[in-house]
Amino acid sequence: MKYVSVIEKVVRGDKMVRGLFLRWLIEKYNIKTVLEIGTGEFFATLWMAKAGAKVETLDIADRLRYVAEQHGKTVCDLWEMPYELFGKIKVTIGDSAKVLPIYNKTYDMIFIDGDHAYEGVYSDLKNSLRLSDRFIVLHDHCVKGTGVKKAIHKLLGVPKTVFTDFRPGEKMGMVVAEKIDNQWKLW
Ligand SMILES: C[S@@+](CC[C@H](N)C(=O)[O-])C[C@H]1O[C@@H](n2cnc3c(N)ncnc32)[C@H](O)[C@@H]1O
Repeated sequence: MKYVSVIEKVVRGDKMVRGLFLRWLIEKYNIKTVLEIGTGEFFATLWMAKAGAKVETLDIADRLRYVAEQHGKTVCDLWEMPYELFGKIKVTIGDSAKVLPIYNKTYDMIFIDGDHAYEGVYSDLKNSLRLSDRFIVLHDHCVKGTGVKKAIHKLLGVPKTVFTDFRPGEKMGMVVAEKIDNQWKLW
């Protein structure tokens, strides 16, 4: 893709920039395993797999079925990604608040983008503090009406947006927490 068309996409608020940020993070820090909370339409899932990570993605609903019904396409066709990437993705259906407390393996990075209400983000972040070995990334920090900012504030401190993507008329925003010497630090 030509550089100029990337800039056009950033300016138009294309979600591609979110994929590029996650890809940069995974490649730069050699992240091998990711847990995504909130699959949506597999957009970020596929970008993280494209960056080289094995991705487990958890959603309360059957999002593969949703994409097929909504778009009449596979998720790889929807985002123009190679089919082989799907081999690096494990899909789980379940409510993160109920499922995560019984998870016991850890991940290099957890991407939180599921239930955006305060109680939901608080529960996902609390569980992620135990389940992530190095990074926790939270999406939609700037979106009004969500509980993202408040939950981060409660558990980690005053959050800073380290990167922002946009949708028309609105900033979305990412926050990154990194575990250094066994302490969680916000970037
Ligand atoms: C904004 S979408 C995720 C987008 C995706 N992460 C991306 O970047 O392309 C939010 C998803 O979270 C899911 N979700 C909401 N509450 C949840 C919960 N309690 N447990 C798991 N998933 C949940 C929704 O079904 C929805 O698919």
